[in-house]
Amino acid sequence: MTTAAPQYATAAHNLSQSARAEAEYANVAQPSTFIPRGDTIVTLNYFRPPEDGSAPYNYVEKQADGHQRNFGDFDIQLPIRDIRGRENEFSLDKDAFQVASGLPESAEKDFVDDASIKEKYYPEVEKLILDNVEGSNRVFIFDHTIRRSNPNAPRAPVTRVHIDQTKKSATARVHHHLPDEAEKLLQGRYRLINVWRPLNGPVQGSPLAFASSSSLKDEDLIPIEHRYPDRTGETAGIRYNEGQKWHYLSGMRNDERLFLECFDSEATKPGTKVLGGRVPHTAFQDPRTPKNAVGRESIEVRALVFGP
Ligand code: OGA
Ligand code: FE
Repeated sequence: MTTAAPQYATAAHNLSQSARAEAEYANVAQPSTFIPRGDTIVTLNYFRPPEDGSAPYNYVEKQADGHQRNFGDFDIQLPIRDIRGRENEFSLDKDAFQVASGLPESAEKDFVDDASIKEKYYPEVEKLILDNVEGSNRVFIFDHTIRRSNPNAPRAPVTRVHIDQTKKSATARVHHHLPDEAEKLLQGRYRLINVWRPLNGPVQGSPLAFASSSSLKDEDLIPIEHRYPDRTGETAGIRYNEGQKWHYLSGMRNDERLFLECFDSEATKPGTKVLGGRVPHTAFQDPRTPKNAVGRESIEVRALVFGP
């Protein structure tokens, strides 16, 4: 394990003797196409509040003085369960994540040109949402992020447990993108949902972990100021709590989509069947992934979803 990345080393260090032997076996003896599957233990990186009790913030753009954020983080070893084969047990209303599979190939082939992605891929995502998100009758897609694992990629997988938006920032998004209709739209149900897919699946390295919304307490959600050069958004860090139940979908394929719900206005209503409507998520390094595995490439599309 001497050449392993620090995360691998930490993860392996805390595993039992036999699990460690297995992990090393996977690294050495499996062919490079090996895809880790099944329940396991991984290291996830969680939020640590600022020492001085001040409100947490981070800057989106790289800062010249290197001061990027005022909060810390810590690694923790956690069990994670593979939902492959029982994807249908999970739903947006209960878990704030949901899987769709068997999607046809996209009209977008390259995923390099933003205009082309908007023209070809966005309409497919809009239809997918209308077909799969119960009650939805209108979708407004506001952006997307492409992630590639190579060191020069503008955006890489995120190895930090987070939720992209809070009630405050989701509501601000509606005002920002649909100013004329916002007041009316905000009286009905509004959700903010990311639609995630790999571009070079099946995913071997840096898979995505997500914790069921039903296992997350409101008090463990910590708003973080998300400072752009011209405005401030809000994301959420997660306080660790051993009740949080983590999952992943092993070897996620190009014909599969993962809905990651960040906010659902329905979750705040008394007597609701919606259990929180927000899913903590993060990329992780699976200690069983071979060292020469293919780096993950993915796209997530972010949408405001309206409907009763
Ligand atoms: C997301 C997200 C991280 C990743 O889709 O919201 O945080 O590594 N993705 O793909
Ligand atoms: Fe995210």
